[in-house]
Amino acid sequence: MADTNASLQIGGKSFDYPVRSGTVGPDVIDIRTLYGKTGAFTFDPGFTSTASCESQITYIDGDEGILLHRGYPIDQLAEQSSFMEVAYLLLHGDLPNKSELETFVYTITRHTMLHEQLAQFYRGFRRDAHPMAIMCGVVGALSAFYHDSTDITDPKQRMIASHRLIAKMPTIAAMAYKYSVGQPFVYPDNKLSYTGNFLRMTFGVPAEPFEVNPIVEQAMRTIFILHADHEQNASTSTVRLAGSSGANPFACIAAGIACLWGPAHGGANEAALNMLREIGTPDRIPEYIARAKDKDDPFRLMGFGHRVYKNYDPRAKVMQKTAEAVLKELGVSDPVFDVARELEQIALNDEYFIEKKLYPNVDFYSGVILSAIGFPTSMFTALFALARTVGWVAQWNEMISDPDQKIGRPRQLYTGQAQRDYVPVGQR
Ligand code: CMC
Repeated sequence: MADTNASLQIGGKSFDYPVRSGTVGPDVIDIRTLYGKTGAFTFDPGFTSTASCESQITYIDGDEGILLHRGYPIDQLAEQSSFMEVAYLLLHGDLPNKSELETFVYTITRHTMLHEQLAQFYRGFRRDAHPMAIMCGVVGALSAFYHDSTDITDPKQRMIASHRLIAKMPTIAAMAYKYSVGQPFVYPDNKLSYTGNFLRMTFGVPAEPFEVNPIVEQAMRTIFILHADHEQNASTSTVRLAGSSGANPFACIAAGIACLWGPAHGGANEAALNMLREIGTPDRIPEYIARAKDKDDPFRLMGFGHRVYKNYDPRAKVMQKTAEAVLKELGVSDPVFDVARELEQIALNDEYFIEKKLYPNVDFYSGVILSAIGFPTSMFTALFALARTVGWVAQWNEMISDPDQKIGRPRQLYTGQAQRDYVPVGQR
């Protein structure tokens, strides 16, 4: 609904564009008719001022450090909810009642196994393949296995594909880990919780029983909830863009995984822990702070800064508390946690970080927890992908059911050569 208009003067003429207001957050200027009316495009590389879609799933107030899923604050969900409940909430819009939750958990639990032939697919990868390379490949390959849920115009088929993706991700990630360490794949055990099952498939072996540590199970649940969705971030926008052409859902999620892998996005958790290990001791922190501030040095403080949060990332707060609890309960004393805490304090009081509003993000402390649990750094981003799959499928479903949905097709400011004639090679 248009609340007011914004006018634009161009070429001596004035054009009016409706300004729309959401429930909360900044207004948007609806410029869909801009090109048709004026012949001009907007220019916004990196989409810093562009709302790419209308959504009802997640809201972020970056200045206040607020993150809401379907209206619920992330800290309340992280402290009181379960990952299955959050998955249902993101997908369906409201928290489930008892029987809806039971049905959802039952459905997800019954989709945890992979087609057996996929085990052969894993064996095609080099043993030292990065788990994210395997995740991209295997999730993309699911599109060749599940032919009964590819009519994306049918909401039921879309939901089956969504359930399959959420259910199979832990199995896929755990198998990527098992393959890298040369241990046999461990099949899912449907008596366990979503996270308990994942821990058993990752750290269990067929030769002996596996006890799920409830503290670790709880920490994994928190990590999964904190990563479940984050509005129109790079990988989610990738999933939406891939899906906007009507592509196969599994292929769209594989595209999201590829995007998430980068160190500026999901790859930051791996990069952050590597950085903390490289710093090693608190006395070396000033050297790294100086490098992060040096314009001629490409080094950045990994796990710091965010495109949207110009305040403390609310997920980082929960993550820091979880790190403290996990290290205490597991009796792990990791000097890296001391480096992280001190680095955070130094950066938060440094003029450069204050002025640029750079605060710890979700990835700053997650690596400390995952490392204490026993995951190698290369698995960190794979765990992010596992959890974010919930958000990706929710956003993908929302996009497909949006009557205004169109294929995503950005335009450009062309600064290359104007038309010129071909010159044969001998005359160049
Ligand atoms: N260390 C040092 N300087 C930084 C950092 C950092 N981590 N992040 C931003 N800056 C500086 C940057 O150099 C720039 O300075 P100037 O204005 O002088 O050129 C200014 O702050 C703004 O940075 P930007 O790159 O224009 O901001 P952006 O919104 O495009 O980038 C970011 C956001 C997350 C890519 C960036 O902060 C970054 O590279 N952080 C490190 C990687 C990281 O932790 N990523 C995880 C993000 S949270 C998980 C997720 O959602 O995927």
